[in-house]
Amino acid sequence: MGLKNSAYAKAFGAFAPLLRGLPPETAHTITIRALALGIAPKGGTPDDPALATEILGLRFQNPVGLAAGFDKNAEALDAMLCFGFGFVEAGTVTPKPQPGNPRPRLFRLAEDGAVINRLGFNGGGMERARVRLRKYRDRQTGASARGIIGINIGKNRDTENAADDYALAASAFAGLADYLVLNVSSPNTPGLRDLQAKEKLAEILEKTEAALAETASSKKTPLLLKVAPDLDAPARAEIASLALEGRVDGLIVGNTTLSRPDSLQSKWRTETGGLSGRPLFPLATACLFDFYRLTEGRVPLIGTGGIASGEAAYEKICAGASLVQLYTALIYEGPGLIQRIKKDLARLLRRDGFAHIGDAVGAAHRQGK
Ligand SMILES: Cc1cc2nc3c(=O)[nH]c(=O)nc-3n(C[C@H](O)[C@H](O)[C@H](O)COP(=O)(O)O)c2cc1C
Repeated sequence: MGLKNSAYAKAFGAFAPLLRGLPPETAHTITIRALALGIAPKGGTPDDPALATEILGLRFQNPVGLAAGFDKNAEALDAMLCFGFGFVEAGTVTPKPQPGNPRPRLFRLAEDGAVINRLGFNGGGMERARVRLRKYRDRQTGASARGIIGINIGKNRDTENAADDYALAASAFAGLADYLVLNVSSPNTPGLRDLQAKEKLAEILEKTEAALAETASSKKTPLLLKVAPDLDAPARAEIASLALEGRVDGLIVGNTTLSRPDSLQSKWRTETGGLSGRPLFPLATACLFDFYRLTEGRVPLIGTGGIASGEAAYEKICAGASLVQLYTALIYEGPGLIQRIKKDLARLLRRDGFAHIGDAVGAAHRQGK
């Protein structure tokens, strides 16, 4: 199914205020159900060729992706691509299903354009997500443009040896996902962020690489690492050196923050969990800028955190991102935001004399900013 764009816009206009009146997690569940049923616009308009880019051995029609956490169970892949995303990252998927943390665990900080979540990897587990991804692939036969799907993987809360879970999940999606992300940066699973330490990461990478090498898939699935924007300078340098050694194919910078900027106004600002959205933008972009510098522009970076406009996406690209992702701004702006960001990105590229998005990657470093 799929609705004409005008019919979809009407339906969305009617439902958006109702959804905003519901508790955030209920609104999210209803949205995912509707998208999974195919309540989404039909197809999409072709992207401006200036936005096309090739990275990680994959060809992206545009560099704007859906960040992990929206579609944790890979239920709404087609719909999200129809909205105009150049790629969709599903997950975090854990090997076994698990309920996550007690509710309430998701808070809208509307005044701040932000969200705090402490969901804790709630999800249906890798087997169900794998079946859905397989069905998605089966639908994508023929010459139709193939949407890029990344799978973000994590560990179950009660797993002792984290590396085993990453290896298990990686082998489940090898050759099926276009890329894989090791999520070691969500703040809502006890001890998860400690896995960003060099020795722990080395063990995870070793086991994951071994698991991927054992799978029958002929093509190598690119492996990325998603990091926290809160990492201190020594931790950033260690991760950058692992990336420069080729242990991962790219970095996603980054996840939600545990910090709470003074500017926050909402009554929910003291809730425990990871903060995302507009207030995260300066911190996440500075962290991205630093990773581009540390990796000498040689490692593909995905810039995530607080993108709510074409200008913000462009700033990430100039700071060093080859691709960008967003989630929180969708909650406040709705899916029309994606087309607006792409249009503005293309305009900003032309304004600054860049023929292609790839030419702008890291431009702020070359201007000595
Ligand atoms: C409700 C919610 C759930 C999230 N769940 C995940 C997750 O499961 N795995 C993950 O890697 N990131 C998760 N994230 C983080 C986002 O992928 C993204 O890194 C972060 O929100 C910053 O981007 P944004 O400011 O555009 O939202 C989640 C974010 C939100 C708001």
